[in-house]
Amino acid sequence: MSEDRGGTTVGQERLTRRMARGAAFLGSDVAIMAGAMSWVSERNLVSAMSNAGGFGVIACGAMTPELLDAEIAATRAMTDNPFGVNLITMHPALFDLIAVCAKHDVGHVVLAGGLPPKGSLEAIKAGGAKVICFAPTLALAKKLIRSGVDALVIEGMEAGGHIGPVSTSVLAQEMLPEIAELVPVFVAGGIGRGEAIAGYLDMGAAGVQLGTRFVCATESIAHANFKRAFIRASARDAVASVQFDPRLPVIPVRALKNAGGELFTAKQREVALSLDGGKVEMLEAQLQIEHYWAGALRRAVIDGDVEHGSVMAGQSVGMVTKEEPIAEIIAALVAEAASALEKRAG
Ligand SMILES: Cc1cc2nc3c(=O)[nH]c(=O)nc-3n(C[C@H](O)[C@H](O)[C@H](O)COP(=O)(O)O)c2cc1C
Repeated sequence: MSEDRGGTTVGQERLTRRMARGAAFLGSDVAIMAGAMSWVSERNLVSAMSNAGGFGVIACGAMTPELLDAEIAATRAMTDNPFGVNLITMHPALFDLIAVCAKHDVGHVVLAGGLPPKGSLEAIKAGGAKVICFAPTLALAKKLIRSGVDALVIEGMEAGGHIGPVSTSVLAQEMLPEIAELVPVFVAGGIGRGEAIAGYLDMGAAGVQLGTRFVCATESIAHANFKRAFIRASARDAVASVQFDPRLPVIPVRALKNAGGELFTAKQREVALSLDGGKVEMLEAQLQIEHYWAGALRRAVIDGDVEHGSVMAGQSVGMVTKEEPIAEIIAALVAEAASALEKRAG
């Protein structure tokens, strides 16, 4: 039974307490981040997320510094609350993008897509922002903490988009007991309901990051076809891409099964052939694959071609059942988490 203390239940109090560190770090009401999603996480979704008390993150993806400059300014005009910017480490203009974040006094920069290049952490901190990095293994998490990152995201293979090989539950068990007291750790991948949020908070997480659950927010600019594909899909439709050639290491991507999967195999074959023929170097070959994904995602998110584009989605897609305002999604997650904590003995 809910024990009411002036409108706040015991479960809500427990949730607020468990989220306090993460929320203070982000400057938000709740320690829930909407992970950056290329083409989806732009001014509308990001500002709506931060206005709803969560923490939105702009996906810079392949944007030029000029485009990022305009996107941050436009987001700022739509919310007074903090939000972050996600930068991809292999972007050729990474340091210019960091300078754009500093110019706008962005409080949090999330570095994705690999280990931070030399000097990037220092450059972000010199601009006044906190740095959040993805930690794929415990050893790398410890290394990143020694290098001065302010917080970490650990993301399991249930997630949508680029994924590692290990599940969220295993990463959380391996890593949280060792690192959760050193820096705030946000758990991502496969979270669709608040009960899971409560579970990871109990394990020591400072907060969580969700992507898939926010794609069908009313405020999301994703094409109606993209949202419809999410609403129809079940967990087993969100599959990881298959590596075609062992010599061409490509990071797997989790997306809904469609004809685009075959196009990706064809693309890998084409890139592997140019690699064999000495026409491109390995780094260039890998960049070509990444550009392919950005283009394929755009085709699905913006143009609505969900058959040939990439409909990146995590396994939690089965729990996305309708389009609804982001504030309602946050309210549902919070209520589920609070209700789960309400049932705890203490
Ligand atoms: C459509 C889509 C696009 C994404 N694009 C990016 C990206 O550009 N950069 C990034 O760091 N993560 C990206 N992600 C991962 C999310 O930021 C987030 O970490 C992930 O969705 C969390 O797992 P979940 O999907 O199970 O909630 C993307 C995810 C999706 C579903």
